[in-house]
Order: sequence, then C-alpha cells, then structure tokens
Amino acid sequence: MKILITGGAGFIGSAVVRSAVRRGHQVVNLDALTYAANLANVAAVSSSDLYYLEQADIRDRDVLEQIFRSYCPDAVMHLAAESHVDRSIDGPDNFIQTNIIGSFNMLEAARAHWLREGRPEGFRFHHVSTDEVFGSLGETGQFNEETPYNPRSPYSASKAGSNHLVRAWHETYGLPVVLTNCSNNYGPYHFPEKLVPVVILKALAGEPIPVYGDGGNVRDWLYVEDHADALLLVLEKGRNGRSYNIGGQNEVKNIDLVRMICEHMDTLRPEGAPHDRLISFVPDRPGHDRRYAIDPRRIRDELGWRPSVTIEEGLRRTVEWYLANSDWWQPLLSREGVGRRLGTA
Ligand SMILES: NC(=O)c1ccc[n+]([C@@H]2O[C@H](COP(=O)([O-])OP(=O)(O)OC[C@H]3O[C@@H](n4cnc5c(N)ncnc54)[C@H](O)[C@@H]3O)[C@@H](O)[C@H]2O)c1
Repeated sequence: MKILITGGAGFIGSAVVRSAVRRGHQVVNLDALTYAANLANVAAVSSSDLYYLEQADIRDRDVLEQIFRSYCPDAVMHLAAESHVDRSIDGPDNFIQTNIIGSFNMLEAARAHWLREGRPEGFRFHHVSTDEVFGSLGETGQFNEETPYNPRSPYSASKAGSNHLVRAWHETYGLPVVLTNCSNNYGPYHFPEKLVPVVILKALAGEPIPVYGDGGNVRDWLYVEDHADALLLVLEKGRNGRSYNIGGQNEVKNIDLVRMICEHMDTLRPEGAPHDRLISFVPDRPGHDRRYAIDPRRIRDELGWRPSVTIEEGLRRTVEWYLANSDWWQPLLSREGVGRRLGTA
C-alpha cells in the first residue's frame, strides 16, 4: 500500500513510518518540520526505496493538492498536529490553524483525490486523535467510542474540532474514514518537553523534577510502538466510518510514574540515587484534566489488538534508550521553549 503519513517526523508519526516501511508499505512522509520534528527519528528507514519525504505545511492547501496528484496514495494517516497542551495555553493560534484548518485542508485534498480516482472503496483517511477530546473523568469510569466530547484545553478543543470535520466529511461526502483516539504515549524519540523524557533528563542532570499540582492526575500510558501497530491495524482492518479507542490499560498517577522512572534511574545510574529526592511540586496547569482512562473493548473484540508492553517494561526500555542516545536529545534541548515552564496562563 502507498500511505501518505502526515507528521511522520514527530514522535508517534515516526514510529508509524518506521513500522510501515518495515512491513513493506511505500510511505510518503509529509511534514513541515516544526520545532517538534526530527528527521533523526526516521533515519532507520530514510534510505529505503519505499520512503519519500515531502517538507510541506498542511496549512497550505495548494501544496497538499500537488502532493496528492504526484503520489496518488492508497491511504492517508493524518498525525500532523501541534501536540503540546502547555504550548496551546500560551499560543492557541497555531493549534487552531494546524489542527483545525490544516485538517480541513487535508480532508479537501483527500476528497478531491478520491473523486479523481473514481471513489475507490479501499481508500482510507485515518485521522489520529486523542482521548483528551472526552474531557476529564472522576475516580471511576472509562471513555468509550460513544462518550460525548467535552474538551477543556485549546489543544483538545482543536483536536475535537478536527474529529468533527472528519466525521462530517464521511457522512456528507462519503469519504472513507477511520478515526482513533488514543491515550498518552511514551517511548523512544519522545520530544524532551513531555513528562516522561523531562523526568528522565532532569534526574540524569540532578536537577529538580517538576510535578504539576499534587501529582494525582491519572493517565493511561501506551507504549508508542504498540500504538503504531494498532494504527496500522485500524488502517488495514478498521470498519469504514468507525472510530476506535486505543489505550495501554496502564492507568498510573503522575507522581507514581515519576517514582517508577526514578527507581529505574537508581538502578542504571546509582551514583545519583535516590533520584526521587529531586521531585519538586510546582503550580498546576490551568484546567488540568484529572483522569483519563480508555475502554479498549472495541479494538480488542473487533480487531484482536491488545497492548504488548507493560508500563514497567516500557519505562525500563525508555529510560535505557534515553541514557544510550544523548546524541539524539542533546541538540533538542536548545529548541525554543524547551526546559522552560510553559502554559501557566
Ligand atoms: N503524544 C501523545 O501522547 C498523543 C496522544 C494522543 C494523540 N496524539 C496525536 O497523535 C498525533 C501525533 O502526536 P505526536 O506526539 O507524535 O506529535 P509531535 O508533536 O511529536 O509531532 C507532530 C509532527 O507534526 C508536524 N507538524 C506540525 N504542524 C504541522 C503543519 N502545519 N504541517 C505539517 N506538519 C506539521 C511536526 O513537524 C511534527 O513532526 C497528533 O495528532 C496528536 O494530537 C498524541
């Protein structure tokens, strides 16, 4: 299959690109190469005959039109987005432009391509979204595919907006689509402004490890390579027009996650132990959702997918990867905004 993947130089997109090329798919990686991108993420496959890179911005409809005409993809996996909640609080504009207008441009370019090709039934527009569109849970309950949207940050509102557009393009124009809403990802190649790499790199440097609020916020952690497998499965086997929630079945409070990382650091870097002495509680993020949890029954029962990596195993692999790959993360620390507290509004 020839797959046009947007955002393929980012964290999750690059895992999908690597996995898709290894499975023998042709991949066109469409990415604007923003601050969050890194071509080193796809170095493992970039010399393959199956891999093409198009540096392009999804806010530019004309460029998208040309890319669809020249590559004629069988499917689209749309991951390009502004993805950091704290940045969305400081500057929502980019989130609206890329996540909503950019997704609209992608839908229109894909629809024109699908019509030119004679409405192929097998074509798919796979929109990759987040569990954050469902809002915040109390102590109990889980999000399923019918949970009403209740986004509470500029980021999650922009993702919810794009989800609505994708559903509308399916219902109104018949565009074949699938949607996925996943929980928090972690793993290698995670940009060092997100919680897991921040904790590892602060612990390594012997600097205060910031924990927002009381650390009681709960996330359902999903290993990125498990997520990439699930996304390719949904693309190939998911039912047209359907959405699937993808979760790791690893619900953990932030403070417990931080302590687990510190324990791995104690084992791997005993000279800095105990690393949890570095934990420092900082003022909470405004509107910080308290708990997310995914009900994974649909993707499990219909498509037979379940996560393969436990949180203990995934964190161990991730910590080891960061310790072995300072060449990857060191240059990213000087990118704009990294290492600064953002999103305090
Ligand atoms: N990381 C998570 O835990 C998580 C959870 C649920 C859903 N998601 C969704 O998965 C997708 C990928 O997330 P990620 O964590 O890999 O993000 P990321 O920030 O690591 O990567 C985003 C990529 O999109 C590219 N991009 C941004 N704006 C663009 C534009 N205007 N045109 C073209 N390319 C552009 C960037 O250059 C970057 O390579 C996003 O849609 C995000 O909303 C992420």
